Amino acid sequence: MATLNKMTKKITLLFCLGCCSFVTSCYYDKKDQIYPQVAVSACDTTNITYQAVVAPILNTNCNSCHATAVANKSGAGVILDNYASVKPYITNNSLLNSIVQNGKVSPMPLNAPKMDACTISKIAAWINKGALNN
Ligand code: HEC
Repeated sequence: MATLNKMTKKITLLFCLGCCSFVTSCYYDKKDQIYPQVAVSACDTTNITYQAVVAPILNTNCNSCHATAVANKSGAGVILDNYASVKPYITNNSLLNSIVQNGKVSPMPLNAPKMDACTISKIAAWINKGALNN
């Protein structure tokens, strides 16, 4: 009886191993299907200038409310369509705080989705390099 028990255990063990390897062998991931190849373009934050990069971002995302012509009506007097007017909001950090939406000032753009991370880091990069009028 004892030998039979041992035998039974061995058979059971072998059976289990067989099952396991069968099950795992059926598990076959196709890399391409799990991670589809999306074109990942890195965010380029080098050579950011006010004229070429920052001003167009502000024009697109902010100046429907913050352009000189409409700022008093829709932008609480905050003007962001020329360097001299933008600079004070850089100096007091409110522009960056508003776009990273950290709760220190009203989140911007108002009533619109947060700007994407790359756009925000471009502005941050320009500020980090001194927010030059370049
Ligand atoms: C739909 C209109 C609208 C848009 C678009 C908008 N703003 Fe504003 N912004 C406002 C209004 C209104 C205020 C003042 C009221 C408030 O703080 O909520 C304001 C305030 C601000 C302030 C001052 C915040 C403070 O409390 O000192 C900054 C800086 C600012 N906006 C930056 C931006 C930037 C940068 C963008 C674009 C990314 C933007 N805004 C887009 C309407 C807008």
